[in-house]
Amino acid sequence: MPPMTSDHELSKADLLRVVDAVREMSHATSSGDHHEMLVLALRVAIRVTESDGAVVYRLNEAGDELTRVVSEPHYDQLQDSFGRMRVDRTWTGKSTSRARASATPVANLPPAAQQVLLAVGFVHVATVPLYVRGLPIGTVNLSRRRDEPYTQRELRITEILSDLLVVHVENARLFADANARLDEMRMLLEVARSVTASHSLAERLETSADILARMLGASNAIIALVEDEEDVLRGVASANAELRDFVRTIRIPIAATSAAARAVRTMKTVLVADVEHSSEARSDLVQRFGQKSLVALPLIAHGNAIGVVVIDDTHGARVWEAAEIQRGELIAVQVATAVANARLFEKVKQSYEQLALAQEELVKQEKLAALGQLAATLAHEVRNPLGVLFNSLGTLTKLLPRTGDVALLLSIMGEESRRLDRLMRDLLDFARPVRPSIEPHSLAEEIDGALRAAVQQLGPDCASFSSEVPSDLPRISFDQAMMRQALVNLLTNGAQAAGVGGSVVIRVAIESGKRGPLARIEVSDTGPGIPSDLAERVFEPFFTTKAMGTGLGLSIVKSIIEAHGGWIEFTSDTATGTCARLRLPLERRGGP
Ligand SMILES: Nc1ncnc2c1ncn2[C@@H]1O[C@H](COP(=O)(O)OP(=O)(O)OP(=O)(O)O)[C@@H](O)[C@H]1O
Ligand SMILES: [Mg+2]
Repeated sequence: MPPMTSDHELSKADLLRVVDAVREMSHATSSGDHHEMLVLALRVAIRVTESDGAVVYRLNEAGDELTRVVSEPHYDQLQDSFGRMRVDRTWTGKSTSRARASATPVANLPPAAQQVLLAVGFVHVATVPLYVRGLPIGTVNLSRRRDEPYTQRELRITEILSDLLVVHVENARLFADANARLDEMRMLLEVARSVTASHSLAERLETSADILARMLGASNAIIALVEDEEDVLRGVASANAELRDFVRTIRIPIAATSAAARAVRTMKTVLVADVEHSSEARSDLVQRFGQKSLVALPLIAHGNAIGVVVIDDTHGARVWEAAEIQRGELIAVQVATAVANARLFEKVKQSYEQLALAQEELVKQEKLAALGQLAATLAHEVRNPLGVLFNSLGTLTKLLPRTGDVALLLSIMGEESRRLDRLMRDLLDFARPVRPSIEPHSLAEEIDGALRAAVQQLGPDCASFSSEVPSDLPRISFDQAMMRQALVNLLTNGAQAAGVGGSVVIRVAIESGKRGPLARIEVSDTGPGIPSDLAERVFEPFFTTKAMGTGLGLSIVKSIIEAHGGWIEFTSDTATGTCARLRLPLERRGGP
């Protein structure tokens, strides 16, 4: 080694230079730009040590390799040769472990290094290790073209500058870290706030997707949820508003070869650094989204994968950093919890509504049962005296002359007694438990019988009746007396609504229902229709709009038809009148 200048002591001028350098470097620190700061530090080092080139190397975590971070003039030309260096095989590398600055003429280096350095004109080199809290993190290398060895004094100055550089770099890193943390906290808070806000789940998911994309510096974030019953992922939200409509059309089977589906299946994050060379990216989606790289984060709630967030980059293949993924996973947990909570809330709401309905129905049933009992008792008690009244009336009619006021009063008594009798009959029908005895019958014959009975009940001055029954109608199973009563009730309602001059038509057809074939029986009239505000009430017992009605007719029809496993519905409008439609299953399964 050539002798170095013996002057170890720093002169006042040296100290002033150092102070100047410190001031200059502090300016750079405040910008927070890492790279800019290093470049500035290198320039200061070059100036202070009168060098021609400088470079900073960073030591990897394993401590066995140095990577060039930043360099000032000329080192760029050496990039290929000195971009990376093994610690154990290079002069710079070995110097790192000595923890002291060292210098050497290039001529003393191994021939390969010599060749490269001499080619750029460097004659002397120096290396100064960088330490943070006693651990090596890299080196600063200086080189000079003049044939003048680095002095101990120069190395001391560089050491001081390097120490300062490290402090500044550390500060800047801490500052940047703190800022990033702060940003992260802000975003997390934003997610937390948005996922608990009262707006709809869909909106919350859009906001979360947006925050996720921003937080990871991604091009887009898409959220897909597992459909409840099908094994499919359904797109629900996208950070990119222009893609929202398209995202909602996405369906990916969970068994599919897809990064998103695998994330759901394995409940683990799936990274696709380079979409172009992956078999797990769906070409149709890649084409639409322009994804070059993606991450699929599973949404896990209560130990189940309920969906996935796919974050993509459309700029190029990208190595997603562990810290980024961790942040993404943290948000995914919040999103999953929000979805699970929203679903839970929806379920609770639904069960509550069902419960309320069931309770309402129960109360209704109880009321009806009580009403039925009351009606039965009442009808039974009233019918006996009513019988006596009828008999007496019959006798009186025979005894008294049928003229004047006597005749009028007798006829009124007769009329009202019959009305009372009919009410009692209806009450008994209504109260009687409906247990049909079902056997095959001809529905056509039943309809004829019902038409005759209706005419008899209504008298000659009423609407006209007609029927349209297919001649090949098969025999159908029902309780004859009950069916007759149901049909008569519907026909009389129709005729009463249509009035004299109006018409009532009864039609029968066979149709196929969800659970097998059905007989459809329609009774249409030309009446004024049922006012929409009353439509709900027509099946209520005792609901009537007629002066002489009991309001039991349709309740009886309903319970009869339901006892046969069928149902009844009305369509009605003021222009065309009303149509009561009965549906009767032809094949009966279980039930009464
Ligand atoms: N075809 C129809 N057109 C218009 N309104 C109807 C028709 N059928 C029923 N309604 C309405 O429904 C109410 C209830 O009918 P329901 O047959 O139960 O009792 P009602 O006919 O009034 O009395 P009841 O049948 O006991 O003599 C009727 O009062 C009427 O307001
Ligand atoms: Mg009626």
